[in-house]
Amino acid sequence: MNADSPHLDLPRCPTGIEGLDNILDGGFPRGSTILLTGSCGTGKTTLGLEYLVRGANAGERSMFLSVTEASDRIVQNLATFEFFDRKILDDGKLVFIDVPILYEKLGLSKQELTPEDIDLLITAIVDLANTLKIQRLVLDSVTSVCFRIRHEEKIRDFILKLGKSLSDIDCTTLLVSEIGPQADRYSLYGVEENIADGVILLGNIQRQGDLLRTLQIIKVRGATHSRAQYVIEITPLGIFLAPFLKGGGRTSTGNG
Ligand SMILES: Nc1ncnc2c1ncn2[C@@H]1O[C@H](COP(=O)(O)OP(=O)(O)O)[C@@H](O)[C@H]1O
Ligand SMILES: [Mg+2]
Repeated sequence: MNADSPHLDLPRCPTGIEGLDNILDGGFPRGSTILLTGSCGTGKTTLGLEYLVRGANAGERSMFLSVTEASDRIVQNLATFEFFDRKILDDGKLVFIDVPILYEKLGLSKQELTPEDIDLLITAIVDLANTLKIQRLVLDSVTSVCFRIRHEEKIRDFILKLGKSLSDIDCTTLLVSEIGPQADRYSLYGVEENIADGVILLGNIQRQGDLLRTLQIIKVRGATHSRAQYVIEITPLGIFLAPFLKGGGRTSTGNG
């Protein structure tokens, strides 16, 4: 893509995480679908939440769709971060949806979702986002939903339709993807990363007895960005990025 590409002028959705916005040249392209991938404990849920809370604090309506963790537990953990104020929940700026409850309401009880079930689910999510005028959405995790879709073709369809429908209402979406520590691709089924507009990889690196967290932007369509690996630190003030300094000490890389 050359410097005159119109895509580079796409409006941005700042993540509110300063270090990340710096390397994303202002934020995610608005309306895009980004796969946030990494193994357990790499900070996916935390990054997703900070993205939503920072947006809500700035007046944008945000929605967290939780598949595996109950939302009251997530809120409990959120309360340990200084940038979080319960007021955004009371004001409806940040909304939590438990996906298992959504499944139940929609009557999706079979382990494997049929194409009709998938359409129902997409419609329910998009209707919610539309009604609540949601501008930022996190699905944690897309992997758990895909686990019930099972077939690559149907997964491709699900992510394409969901991403397109949310993009049409100008919602910028993070799909959390769970992979193993030694995974050689960015998602469980290998199709998710090809359909998403962007991929951000979180990982762990063992260094001198410490397990460092890392972040790397693999791709973001319509944006110029660094592809360097960064070290991230999760603190009560939020996520901080620092350049990863190579060399020195015993280093072995895990996922990422
Ligand atoms: N309030 C907090 N302050 C500092 N670190 C935190 C806080 N909340 C979570 N963390 C860190 O984040 C880690 C969990 O990250 P998480 O986002 O749940 O990972 P993932 O979703 O990738 O499994 C915890 O192990 C902890 O170290
Ligand atoms: Mg998580």
